[in-house]
Order: sequence, then structure tokens, then C-alpha cells
Amino acid sequence: AYTAAPFVPERADLAALRAAAAGCRGCPLHRAAERTVFSSGDADARVVLVGEQPGDQEDRAGQPFVGPAGRVLMRALDEAGIDPTETYVTNAVKHFKFEVVPERGKRRIHKAPNLRELTACRPWLVAEIRLVEPEVIVALGATAGKALLGPSFRVTRQRGVPLPCPELDGEAPGAECVVATIHPSAVLRAADREATYRGLVSDLRVVAGALG
Ligand code: URA
Repeated sequence: AYTAAPFVPERADLAALRAAAAGCRGCPLHRAAERTVFSSGDADARVVLVGEQPGDQEDRAGQPFVGPAGRVLMRALDEAGIDPTETYVTNAVKHFKFEVVPERGKRRIHKAPNLRELTACRPWLVAEIRLVEPEVIVALGATAGKALLGPSFRVTRQRGVPLPCPELDGEAPGAECVVATIHPSAVLRAADREATYRGLVSDLRVVAGALG
């Protein structure tokens, strides 16, 4: 099976994890992507935000959530009363997965990671959460939800309520709770953008409430 486990250094700090992740070959996604996109933000954050995978702009920049979905996310956090600079931002999968469809030119079209890739990359996410020790983990969309809560996770059924954080390495939960919501890119694709955005903000207010 694909796994990042042999690439994850033990007892490493965040800088060492980041450096090791740059050389991860735990699954085939590193071949086509430009680089590993690890994380950004505050290592002492009370909130860890987990997205799906870097997009085209993130793959170029080497930073998560710097493209259009990131702008939606930062605005929604702010509106929910969460300072985006006080969060730790990462993804369930650390490489950009895409396809190039010749009829659509040279653009790299995002492809959702599959369960094998998600499982392969999970040791990075677990190590990050162990280091940051947040109070709340936010799963942004179905992929992040599955990475944190298992393959039967459904965002429509489980969003917007604090869920018990599962054991992340067979030992102890990584946080007091997980709150799931839609992926911010869903706002950009929605027929009713305003209502979809309102739903995202409302779920993030639950996060703010859980922080007390
Ligand atoms: N979408 C994600 O899930 N993560 C990013 O970093 C950018 C877009």
C-alpha cells in the first residue's frame, strides 16, 4: 500500500516535518506535482483547518489556500469571528492531483484524491495535529472529513456540529472536537453563492463557539 509513514521523522518539530515532507515519495502524486505543499500559519493555533489538497496556484506558490478558495475561506473565518492569522492551515493530501484535458488547453484540472492517496498521506496530518495540539479541527469538505473521521463520513449529514475527535494514532484524540463544513470552493461553484457562503460562515461560528 502507498504510505508516507517511512518518510515521517519521529519526534520532529514542524520545521523538520516540513523539510521531510518536501521529499515524500509515499504515493505517486509527487511525480506530476511541482512541489509538496505542507502547511501555513500558527504552530500554536487553537484551530487547525484541513482542506483537501493544494490547487494549481498552491502548487506553484508552495502555500496552502492562496488561490480563490483560500480567499473565500479567509473572508468566512473573519466573518465568523476567527482570526485567520491565528489558525494552522493544511491539507489532507500534500500534493496537487490534476489532469490535463487536451480539449481544454494546457490548464491543469483538479482531480479529487482517492482513498489510497488519502490514506497514504495521513501520517503527515496526524503528525501535524500532534504537534499543534489544537482545541478544534475543522474538516473543510468531504475529503478532509474522510481523512479525519473515516470513509463513511458525509458532509451533508455531519456538518456544523462538534463531533468527537477520533483517536488519530491509536492513542489519544488529536483535539477536543472536529467540526466539518463544506469546502470553500463549493461556494465558488454553487448556484446560490450567497446562501452557500452563509452556510460556511454559520458552521465556522460553531467553531468559534467551541473555542469559548
Ligand atoms: N483547496 C484545498 O483544499 N486546499 C488548498 O490548499 C487550496 C484549495
